[in-house]
Amino acid sequence: MKSISYQNPHSLMFHLMLLLILLVSCFCSYVSCSSHSNVSTTAITSSSLITSCLPDQTAALLQFKGEFAFIKPNFGSYYFNCPRSADPYYHADDYESYPKMKFWEKEKDCCSWDGVACNTETGKVVGLDLANSWLEGPLRSNSSLFKLHGLQRINLSFNNFSFSIIPSEFAQLSRLTYLNLSFSMFSGHIPSEISFLTHLASLDLSSFLNYDDATSLLHLRKVDFAKLVQNMTNLRYLHLHQVNISSSVPESLANLSSLTSLVLGGCSLLGNFPQNVFNLHKLEVIRVTCNYLLTGTLPEFQPSNSLTDVSLDYTKFSGKLPNSIGNLNSLSLLVLRECNFVGPLPSSIWNLSHLTHLDLSLNHIIGHVLPYTLGNLVKLTFLTLQSCQFSGEVPSSLRNLTRLEVLTTTTSELPKFQSLFLGSCNISEFPEFLKTQDQLKALDLTRNKIESEIPKWFWVIGRHLEVLFLYGNKLHGSFTIPPLFTSISYISISQNNLTGIIRKWTYLKVLDISKNNFSGTIPRWLGSSLEILNLQGNNFNGSIPHEIFTYGSTHSMMRMLDLSHNQFQGRVPQSLINCTQLQVLNLGHNQISDTFPFWLQSLSELQVLVLRSNKFFGPIWHPIMYLGFASLGTIDLSINHFSGSLPSDYFRNWGCMSKAPDGNNSDMKYLGQYKVMSNYYIPYRYSMSMINKGSEMELRKILTIFMSIDLSNNRFDGDIPSSIGKLQSLIMLNLSSNNFTGTIPSSFGNLRELESLDLSKNKLFGRIPQQLANLTFLEYLNLSHNQLTGQIPQSTQLDTFSKSSFEGNPRLCGSQVSKKCENTDTQIPFLSRDEEESENGFTWKVVVMGYGCGFVVGLVIGHLTFVNKDGKLENMDGKGLAGK
Ligand SMILES: *[C@@H]1O[C@H](CO)[C@@H](O)[C@H](O)[C@H]1NC(C)=O
Ligand SMILES: *[C@@H]1O[C@H](CO)[C@@H](O)[C@H](O)[C@H]1NC(C)=O
Ligand SMILES: *[C@@H]1O[C@H](CO)[C@@H](O)[C@H](O)[C@H]1NC(C)=O
Ligand SMILES: *[C@@H]1O[C@H](CO)[C@@H](O)[C@H](O)[C@H]1NC(C)=O
Ligand SMILES: *[C@@H]1O[C@H](CO)[C@@H](O)[C@H](O)[C@H]1NC(C)=O
Ligand SMILES: *[C@@H]1O[C@H](CO)[C@@H](O)[C@H](O)[C@H]1NC(C)=O
Ligand SMILES: *[C@@H]1O[C@H](CO)[C@@H](O)[C@H](O)[C@H]1NC(C)=O
Ligand SMILES: *[C@@H]1O[C@H](CO)[C@@H](O)[C@H](O)[C@H]1NC(C)=O
Ligand SMILES: *[C@@H]1O[C@H](CO)[C@@H](O)[C@H](O)[C@H]1NC(C)=O
Ligand SMILES: *[C@@H]1O[C@H](CO)[C@@H](O)[C@H](O)[C@H]1NC(C)=O
Repeated sequence: MKSISYQNPHSLMFHLMLLLILLVSCFCSYVSCSSHSNVSTTAITSSSLITSCLPDQTAALLQFKGEFAFIKPNFGSYYFNCPRSADPYYHADDYESYPKMKFWEKEKDCCSWDGVACNTETGKVVGLDLANSWLEGPLRSNSSLFKLHGLQRINLSFNNFSFSIIPSEFAQLSRLTYLNLSFSMFSGHIPSEISFLTHLASLDLSSFLNYDDATSLLHLRKVDFAKLVQNMTNLRYLHLHQVNISSSVPESLANLSSLTSLVLGGCSLLGNFPQNVFNLHKLEVIRVTCNYLLTGTLPEFQPSNSLTDVSLDYTKFSGKLPNSIGNLNSLSLLVLRECNFVGPLPSSIWNLSHLTHLDLSLNHIIGHVLPYTLGNLVKLTFLTLQSCQFSGEVPSSLRNLTRLEVLTTTTSELPKFQSLFLGSCNISEFPEFLKTQDQLKALDLTRNKIESEIPKWFWVIGRHLEVLFLYGNKLHGSFTIPPLFTSISYISISQNNLTGIIRKWTYLKVLDISKNNFSGTIPRWLGSSLEILNLQGNNFNGSIPHEIFTYGSTHSMMRMLDLSHNQFQGRVPQSLINCTQLQVLNLGHNQISDTFPFWLQSLSELQVLVLRSNKFFGPIWHPIMYLGFASLGTIDLSINHFSGSLPSDYFRNWGCMSKAPDGNNSDMKYLGQYKVMSNYYIPYRYSMSMINKGSEMELRKILTIFMSIDLSNNRFDGDIPSSIGKLQSLIMLNLSSNNFTGTIPSSFGNLRELESLDLSKNKLFGRIPQQLANLTFLEYLNLSHNQLTGQIPQSTQLDTFSKSSFEGNPRLCGSQVSKKCENTDTQIPFLSRDEEESENGFTWKVVVMGYGCGFVVGLVIGHLTFVNKDGKLENMDGKGLAGK
């Protein structure tokens, strides 16, 4: 249960982190812990005077049962918006789940029903634990639940109340001491009446985020937050994780003297966090992570405190770490990642012998992390020293600490780590000290400079590995994991020079061996359990085996498939249709020879489709087979032999691109986070190259807002479909090097987000529509080598483009091409074909199918980064490529 990781000496700081498996405590003292037995604890323990359930209570419970359907909720797509390990312990999978109420039998005493607890003297129902019980449907204000006035404890967590609001009627259950409605798909404002529940000792209203846009489902008004804190003076547990509060934390929180656990992660809290809260004597857990604007400082800690878990990561907490941090004798978890802490790391921190998880990364803390101090932390389970930022002078003795040799001399004292994160540490050899680390579950040696082969002993010690990250080194030789590795689930060895044989592993979910030297055909069973398969940039050949897209008798779990830049031949296996969750399909740069796979249209989550540079042929439209793509955001069919014309309504049913961007893109998303080692989340970072604005760019995180169409270098003819103007969120359009004829549709004027437009090398004629002047984001325009005529529209926008954008159109005139226009020319009114069409009554109808737009699963707030050819980074903040 140990781990270490080292980091980059150049990039200025380091950090440690240790991780404890959080034992979620059972609230036995509050609620029957009868788990899923059908027994009511109270009912059996009292042998004399057993009063059975009162008829009105039975009736109310049965009515309550009748209010819901029993359907297992699918929380699989609901992740947390906090990166990495911030919120590992709320996960539906971790709890037993079955429809308890289904087993309630009318004939039996209701006090014996699963999840029901009674007061044996009064026969009244006092406890209801229906957590994880598959309830589906709204909880209405007239629900029979509110007839059970004796209720003291309610647990309805992990059900699906279908976005209904939390009924204010809860306030009528005035005896409640425990109320848990967490992760149950409630939405809207938390009723202010909740603060009438003055006896509450435990309140958990934590929530998932909205799946579509990663906003909070639940809101708590500032005034109600204050009331709640003021009125519920008995609170021990206050958990409002991911409830949007958007206000400051009331000072009176520090008056809750019974408080033991405070969880306010991702609440959009503002202002300054009341410092006194840290010194509440009974407080054990304080988690305010991912409140990106919350400020605060740490107090001097008293020896009398009880703190075990302090998580302030991703906030603006600042100042120094007090030396009195050494008073936190019980502390096991300290996560201060990405805050603004400064100054020296107090050496007292090495005395915290219960510490299991320490993360100080991405602050400005200067510290000494000497090997012998690590030896003090006997319970260390998880340690990272990654990409930290030292400010000021780094002591020279520290610079080489990241060289693992230093640790080797202390090897015997080193704990056996379970996880070692040693990314970007300038390590040049495969670390020798790993030889004794035979308990490793996760190893990260990414972005180092290891040029060697993977030593043979590694395959012996690493057999417990679940997660292996070796990407971005110069590893060569064979990567052939022995069959012993039965539990491996996540392998990323991208960007090395490895070869080898890939085996079948039962639990393998992510396999990224992109940009290596693997060759041969891919084995038929490869796909079986995979969710992500990235073979980009190897030398695989042969056909793509259709077996890899069936997973036993069930549907494949594949969400991302990248086979690009290999030498695959043959056709696209139709069995891909089994990958109903597929979001990204990249088959670019192979030798695939096939017609357009119309059947991909049935993949309702498909967002990225790349068939670039293959030998595809034939039409991409068919009067019967073609339906459109509801979720697609990026399509690249360029450099193939596609042909034929596209009807004017071709882009009908391209739901996502038709949806206007909502201007609020703070909720950018990229491919999923993976839960590894039971409680650690790692986002999968997918990168893909694209041609944009005339040059190749690396799209580092696929964001659903990057809407692009590339049909260039094919043999399309006929008119450009005017319905293209409906794709309001399109950012990049490339139709160059085809045989398109006709005029440029004036509907292009609706493409308000368009940044890059290439129609060059076609046979377009007529005038450039004035509407193009309205495209204010346009940065790249290429209309060259067509047969366009007349005056280039005069506008400040189009004036910024040079001659090269228009050359090869001898009959164009205007300042850009240094050819004066004749007067008469400008006066001929121009009517484009699609205007004629709209006059003929062509109406647009969007049919949105399946899922909402492009919501790649897994949410992490971040920036889109492009790497251009020079390796320079360009940031994309919010919508589209900013600036010019
Ligand atoms: C309920 O408990 C009784 C006795 O403990 C047991 O015999 C019975 O099988 C249980 N019923 C269910 C549905 O679990
Ligand atoms: C909750 O139920 C609604 C129908 O009421 C359904 O559309 C939705 O998918 C369910 N959510 C989950 C997480 O299962
Ligand atoms: C309520 O349900 C959750 C989820 O199953 C569980 O973690 C918690 O312990 C339950 N609370 C009680 C008091 O049973
Ligand atoms: C509760 O209200 C809903 C409408 O909001 C209604 O359809 C339902 O019949 C009511 N149930 C009872 C038990 O009154
Ligand atoms: C506090 O609770 C009492 C009832 O228990 C209620 O009358 C009062 O309005 C509540 N105060 C606030 C500020 O909500
Ligand atoms: C760090 O290591 C390098 C390479 O082994 C060595 O040249 C240098 O002297 C060392 N620096 C210190 C401060 O020990
Ligand atoms: C990769 O390995 C092969 C031998 O397997 C070798 O020929 C080639 O030069 C290596 N490439 C690089 C970039 O090191
Ligand atoms: C997978 O696709 C094939 C068609 O290629 C089909 O015959 C088979 O039934 C599909 N399997 C599943 C589980 O959908
Ligand atoms: C374009 O069409 C002409 C005939 O109209 C044909 O000769 C030519 O080969 C076509 N070009 C391409 C790239 O398909
Ligand atoms: C340009 O946009 C403005 C509104 O933003 C509109 O009034 C005008 O008609 C548009 N011009 C053209 C040529 O489409």
